[in-house]
Amino acid sequence: MRQSLVMGNWKMNGSRSEGLALANAIVAGLKEGDKGIAVCVPSVYLSDIERAIENTPLALGGQNVADQASGAYTGETSAFMLKECGCEYALVGHSERRTYYGDTDESVAARFCQAQKEGIIPVLCIGETLEERESDTTFAVIDQQLNAVIDMAGIDALANSVIAYEPVWAIGTGKTASDEQAQEVHKYIRKQIAAKSQTVADKIQILYGGSVKPDNAKAIFAMADIDGGLIGGASLDAASFLAIYQAI
Ligand code: PGA
Repeated sequence: MRQSLVMGNWKMNGSRSEGLALANAIVAGLKEGDKGIAVCVPSVYLSDIERAIENTPLALGGQNVADQASGAYTGETSAFMLKECGCEYALVGHSERRTYYGDTDESVAARFCQAQKEGIIPVLCIGETLEERESDTTFAVIDQQLNAVIDMAGIDALANSVIAYEPVWAIGTGKTASDEQAQEVHKYIRKQIAAKSQTVADKIQILYGGSVKPDNAKAIFAMADIDGGLIGGASLDAASFLAIYQAI
């Protein structure tokens, strides 16, 4: 039985005081022994949130990580820095990074490797655009995004990572993939990994992301290959985020 994981992605929202209030409200809704819940917060607030959630079940993540270890890379945040700020996770290859900031399959793979070098669990985001789905290339896109990482990091490295399947057309649009559509791709991802290592395939958590809300979470999480969710909009409200966590 895989441990489930519900992860919030705050993106570039809120202020320091709002972030602290949100983190405190989430923690207030958790009880000792709760597991599998995390928030990825803006990097400038990591230290503040780290202090607020110390010794609580809520884990911390970064929203991106540099593809280099250190040096003259203005504006980037290294895996070491994230680790120092208490991050257990880092998103890599979120579609907003790929679309707006030019993150390529190769740079995403390098970010994945940098995170693991510092003992941070990379959460590899993959998924097709609407155009790709409509032209029946969803599986080819998944293969390409996944294989770029496997080629660079090796299949065994995936054992210490998380995958988030996020169809780009479902992110922030209010449109979710149907439970069956999501399961179909999750099953495919696990099958592709199993072809290289059954052990890794059995272990790896594959999250679904894209307009997950309290009212659709239960049905999505009930699917066999869906181990949790990466939650954007609904993670900005403590009650909604906790309801999604409780749906699992
Ligand atoms: P959403 O975002 O839940 O607002 O669709 C998900 C994500 O981008 O991770």
